[in-house]
Amino acid sequence: MKGLRLHTLTRLAVVAGLAFGLTWTGLLAHRAAGADSTARGEALVKSSDCLSCHAIDHKVVGPAFQSVAQRYAGQPGIVPKLVEKVRKGGSGNWGSVAMTPHPNLSTADLTAMVEWVLSLRPAAAAKKAPAATAPPRTYTYTVNGRRITLDFPVFTTDHHVTPAIFNGWERFDSYCYRCHGEDAIGVELAPDLRESLRRGMTREQFISTAMAGRPGKGMPSWAGFFSPTEILEVYEYVKARSVGLVAPGRPGGE
Ligand code: HEC
Ligand code: HEC
Repeated sequence: MKGLRLHTLTRLAVVAGLAFGLTWTGLLAHRAAGADSTARGEALVKSSDCLSCHAIDHKVVGPAFQSVAQRYAGQPGIVPKLVEKVRKGGSGNWGSVAMTPHPNLSTADLTAMVEWVLSLRPAAAAKKAPAATAPPRTYTYTVNGRRITLDFPVFTTDHHVTPAIFNGWERFDSYCYRCHGEDAIGVELAPDLRESLRRGMTREQFISTAMAGRPGKGMPSWAGFFSPTEILEVYEYVKARSVGLVAPGRPGGE
């Protein structure tokens, strides 16, 4: 009898102790798991194709991740909705450009990624003010007596093309040429991209189309393969070709 009661008391003590201990370790574990899963989310975003189209603090093809966090702050049930959106892709909430679908990412991975995005806080507005008020730089060149003004340089001071234009040409003639023609001269398979720019396609439209592709129309998506800077260099090369500043072939001296 006595033995049994002692046993029961010990059990109770153990249970109470466990419950108390669990509450604490439970809380701590929960916090640690939160931090771990955010860190995991960040790592997953960096190793996936997200950063071809998104940046933390400015719009690229898709909205700044800080703007996404701001728009959905405190909305209950938002995580699974955004997980489905990233999985299926699509447009409409931020504009007419569509996000590519991500059918191969697990729900757990997508959840960690979306939770990391939603954890971002907007940077202090003061930091951005100077950049916003700086006048845009322009570069003026003369081609066959015509003056052409661009918002990026084509030549360095020693009359050679900039590294960006050179890299853009190399990339174009490695990856885009097989459909769009060597040196962007245009072929039957795909549009002459010099013409696309002459008809008014903007830098943003060029980069969005290159990253998102045109599903079902033979234009592949380059998200995850190129960074926004790498596609920007391709744009600058094609733009310089479209205004006649760069001739076909390996760009060199002026
Ligand atoms: C090809 C470009 C592209 C890629 C790659 C891309 N996104 Fe997007 N993303 C967009 C665009 C465009 C939108 C805006 C869609 C809209 O207007 O509804 C967007 C919107 C979002 C939104 C907000 C959705 C909403 O409905 O408000 C989240 C969250 C997001 N992206 C996360 C990601 C994550 C995470 C990845 C990587 C797994 C990723 N994106 C990859 C282009 C892209
Ligand atoms: C496998 C063939 C293929 C490759 C490789 C390819 N494209 Fe395309 N691209 C196309 C096709 C086809 C279209 C036209 C799609 C349509 O009908 O809307 C297109 C359209 C475009 C457009 C829109 C042009 C317009 O006037 O609407 C841009 C911009 C573009 N491609 C950029 C690129 C860039 C940059 C690369 C290299 C990084 C590249 N493409 C590689 C096939 C390709």
